[in-house]
Amino acid sequence: MIPDKFYITTPIYYVNDRPHIGHAYTTILADVLSRFHRLLGVPTWFLTGTDEHGQKVQQAAARAGLTPQEQADRTVVRFQELWKRLEITNDDFIRTTEPRHADVVKEILQDLYDRGEIYRAEYDGWYDVGSETFVNERDLNLAPGQSPADLPNIVRIRESNYFFRMSQYQEWLIRYIEEHPRFIQPDFRRNETLGFLRKPLNDLCISRPKSRLAWGIELPFDPDYVCYVWFDALVNYISAIGYRRDEARFRRWWPASYHLIGKDILTTHTVYWPTMLKAMGLPMPECVFAHGWWLVGQTKMSKSLGNVVNPMDMIDRYGVDPFRYFLMAEMVLGQDASFTEEAFVRRYNADLANDLGNLLSRVLKLAYAHFEGKVPEGPSETPRTIAEGDLWHAVQSAASEVESSIAEMRIDAGLARVMEAVRETNRYLEQKQPWSQAKDSDRRPLALTLYTAAEALRSISALLWPVMPGKMIELRVALGLPVDAPRIEGAKQWGVLQPGASLGMPVMLFPRARLEKAATAPVATAAGVVTAEGKGAGSQKKQSAVGPPPTETISYEDFMKADLRTARVLAAERMPNADKLLRLEIEVGAERRQIVAGIAKHYTPESLIGRTIIVVANLKPANIRGIESCGMLLAVTTDDGALRLLTTDGDAPTGARVK
Ligand code: MSP
Repeated sequence: MIPDKFYITTPIYYVNDRPHIGHAYTTILADVLSRFHRLLGVPTWFLTGTDEHGQKVQQAAARAGLTPQEQADRTVVRFQELWKRLEITNDDFIRTTEPRHADVVKEILQDLYDRGEIYRAEYDGWYDVGSETFVNERDLNLAPGQSPADLPNIVRIRESNYFFRMSQYQEWLIRYIEEHPRFIQPDFRRNETLGFLRKPLNDLCISRPKSRLAWGIELPFDPDYVCYVWFDALVNYISAIGYRRDEARFRRWWPASYHLIGKDILTTHTVYWPTMLKAMGLPMPECVFAHGWWLVGQTKMSKSLGNVVNPMDMIDRYGVDPFRYFLMAEMVLGQDASFTEEAFVRRYNADLANDLGNLLSRVLKLAYAHFEGKVPEGPSETPRTIAEGDLWHAVQSAASEVESSIAEMRIDAGLARVMEAVRETNRYLEQKQPWSQAKDSDRRPLALTLYTAAEALRSISALLWPVMPGKMIELRVALGLPVDAPRIEGAKQWGVLQPGASLGMPVMLFPRARLEKAATAPVATAAGVVTAEGKGAGSQKKQSAVGPPPTETISYEDFMKADLRTARVLAAERMPNADKLLRLEIEVGAERRQIVAGIAKHYTPESLIGRTIIVVANLKPANIRGIESCGMLLAVTTDDGALRLLTTDGDAPTGARVK
């Protein structure tokens, strides 16, 4: 069933360290689910952010010789930069040190205190310094004769503190969980919480004396204390959407459709948070979904083992979309998954380079060779011919299965189904043999084959767009479609590609990757370093630090990876509020596209019209001041700072390859 709104959250990440693959995973998952709901046309709100208070952050700051706020300010940027790089489309980013959050936490504390939900008491018991929680002796699984004090991190504490009357909600919570099976997912995690609730539930200590921990939100009713970091952090899910500030906005989004979390923070989200909400008189989130952990090979990822996977390294080596795809395809939601670079390369080459990338190349090459780079003529109605009808039907059933697997949080299964549709399209081509059809003087059979395969690819690209947004837009542009985000209606409709419309430039979507043996592996369990052939300068630089020594020369094939073409300027105009930029419409062979160029200080728009220029035609489209720039023109700067466009010595056709 399609919801009428979709509000999704990730955990807010501690700013004690840089982001790793686990953080990237949850955030990409939230992004994929958000994009999928946008594809379906569902109003969506996606929240992520950072958890900036508490002992972990205070300790990290002390180690770095910084104040906790400085530590937070420095680290938050790493998260924000990574999300930008990963094309994460969060609607908001909340930091718990922001007044819009901290002030709401204070109000909630005061309100609960005034209503007697929070009280002061003497605590004399055990404290786990690692998890910053008060613990019961019976929960520690002690061996006979063993004392809690014998365990690492457990200390005896005697202090006066404030407590939230969590225990009074125990029976209510058990009943609520039992009556709402979707509330905690997967099922075995629900059972885990119910197991936890079988034992008596204590009240929750929500304060820390400043003498022990100063870095937190001060209790409004006692300045000697700060708020316990988890009580503070959980409130982000409502403070960010306007709780106590903007009632209409809050009602618009709450309750959350999903709180995505890792399995280690289940109790805080399925016991503390629901009881806090209950005390505030607010409805429960629809689903708390706990995913498993990424292991590196079969080993837990940890700083001390030196095997922490840095998402930035992976993106530098393979690009953003393959990384997103791997994480989504490899993890069965709920279970742990294993990350190795070998598995990554295997999957990349099999699914992306071979199956999907080659499919697009085949279709485009044949369309360029035999239909002048235009969409060939196909049936305007859903095809009734057997092979074509069967293929379209297979693609459509993949589309509906993707919808249900998203609703059931079986992302890996949904992706597997789309990749199956890709393979079915490849099988269709093998069966139709378009390269033989091309020898026929009757062009119609070849046109039908190519049109059908292109329509299948168009639909598939929409289904894969939430996972690989950049690459799927490239694919769609290559099919002659606009750069806009796709919609599900289009994916389900036959005949969107217009016969005779220009296709985009042939693109190599997923160059094959190879795994090279290297003395030092960048990722602890990986056998070596991987290079994606045909990557940009960024990846080359990164590679050279760990791979073979950099070479001074490049091969002719390397040079040919840059698709340099002649182009004619058809129109040119200045861009508003950008005194250096011009927007050019250019003709590259049969294709018309726009580029944005920083040449306004050197050329007037009028002086450019009709001129032949040289462009890099296969450069990834870039968004410059809100305008999509599809290519880059070439120019040189003279000693005195003037700019000279590169052009041809005499007439040349547009779209001609520069070599
Ligand atoms: N700040 C708290 C969350 C507060 S939410 C109100 C926190 N932060 S964290 O930065 O330590 O962890 C954030 C998330 O990363 C958790 O969901 C945790 O499960 C997840 N992961 C940490 N290591 C992981 C893997 N190796 N694999 C997958 N996720 C992992 O907890």
